[in-house]
Amino acid sequence: MIELLRKRRSIRSYTAETIAPATVELLIEALLRAPSSRNINPWEFIVVDDRELLSKLSRAKEHGSAFLEGAQLGIVVCADSTTSDVWVEDCSIASILVQMTALSLGLGSCWIQIRQRRHDAKCSAEEYIQKLLGLPEHVKVQSMISIGHPDEVRMPLRSDELEYFKVKHNHFDQPWYPGDKS
Ligand SMILES: Cc1cc2nc3c(=O)[nH]c(=O)nc-3n(C[C@H](O)[C@H](O)[C@H](O)COP(=O)(O)O)c2cc1C
Repeated sequence: MIELLRKRRSIRSYTAETIAPATVELLIEALLRAPSSRNINPWEFIVVDDRELLSKLSRAKEHGSAFLEGAQLGIVVCADSTTSDVWVEDCSIASILVQMTALSLGLGSCWIQIRQRRHDAKCSAEEYIQKLLGLPEHVKVQSMISIGHPDEVRMPLRSDELEYFKVKHNHFDQPWYPGDKS
């Protein structure tokens, strides 16, 4: 996992190559293997491969979602918010796990934030998607994950770019020094 994390970057540009059905099944398995609070599994996942629908979903927000149109797959991560008070955390974990699984399978992906984002002055991004996908009102939308074969190369973060200053040792006043054994 650490080797995968060392390569991990958000990928927003994809080739036209389709994702093999067996690979899509692995991605779905990864979603369903995510941990959730009290094992409630509040999520609902909408797997989208319809080009027209991907195009419409890519317009969910004014900024930061347009590249979904070029993806081979979009996973809309939702939850029945009435079943758990921590569905946001649960959905976030499922989202990152499917992204890491995509990376492990040679695919690129990017998280598209939907919760708390707007479609336009009158409509939230969530309402736009609820209408488009026929989601009931209590089914909330956390994110969309765009996935495809990468059509861009992004340099991994170098070790010296990691924000070790955000890490403390035992007490907030005490910085953590990389390699610190004290
Ligand atoms: C909670 C969350 C929301 C994000 N929302 C978006 C988004 O709406 N659109 C987008 O292009 N990238 C989005 N990203 C990706 C971040 O922009 C990206 O992870 C960050 O810039 C660091 O780049 P890297 O992932 O390549 O290391 C989101 C990431 C997270 C974790």
